[in-house]
Amino acid sequence: MYSSELPQSEKSPYRMRCEAIQFVSAGTDTVSNSMHMLTYHVVEQPHILQRLRDEIRAVQPDSSQPAPLRKLEQLPYLTSVILEALRLGYGVSTRSPRSAPDRVIKYKDWEIPPGTPVGMTPVLMHQNEEKFPEPEKFNPERWVDPAERQRLDKYMVAFSKGTRQCAGIK
Ligand code: HEM
Repeated sequence: MYSSELPQSEKSPYRMRCEAIQFVSAGTDTVSNSMHMLTYHVVEQPHILQRLRDEIRAVQPDSSQPAPLRKLEQLPYLTSVILEALRLGYGVSTRSPRSAPDRVIKYKDWEIPPGTPVGMTPVLMHQNEEKFPEPEKFNPERWVDPAERQRLDKYMVAFSKGTRQCAGIK
């Protein structure tokens, strides 16, 4: 940002400091929440650990050699375990307010006036038992079937959705 063509007024030390703090906190606490959720449940349920090991071993027979990221990304069970950790890990658990400054938002019978903040938290969505039966259970199985994963993607909001979704999602 500092070496970009933004006007100098956008590059004040205060602004740069805020951006740096936001980027560091957005990229560390969130990841650590998901990682500790994943580690705990995988270790706590040995059948998950075993299946994960078997799958990873197939692409990384020698654990001293790193597996190519491209191959890891294609592993269905590893992906399912990560999705389940993201579902329960809550990088952001507060409401993320949004508002439409110049139009009325229609939601069912409601009309929300312009400029009214509307908030939503991943916790409400990820604990919805109609979407995720037995929501407290760490169950990677719910993501394994590709068609089911695609259907559930709509309800996976760990990174939020839309134009202000997580910049670090990849
Ligand atoms: C498991 C990991 C992560 C989760 C669950 C997560 C979650 C989120 C969520 C929910 C938001 C939207 C917040 C809002 O509604 O205001 C967000 C925004 C953001 N995230 Fe992440 N995040 C993760 C990792 C990262 C990483 C690794 C980075 C950077 C290295 C990052 C950078 C950002 C930034 C810069 C924004 C603000 C985007 C904007 O306002 O346009 N995040 N993240």
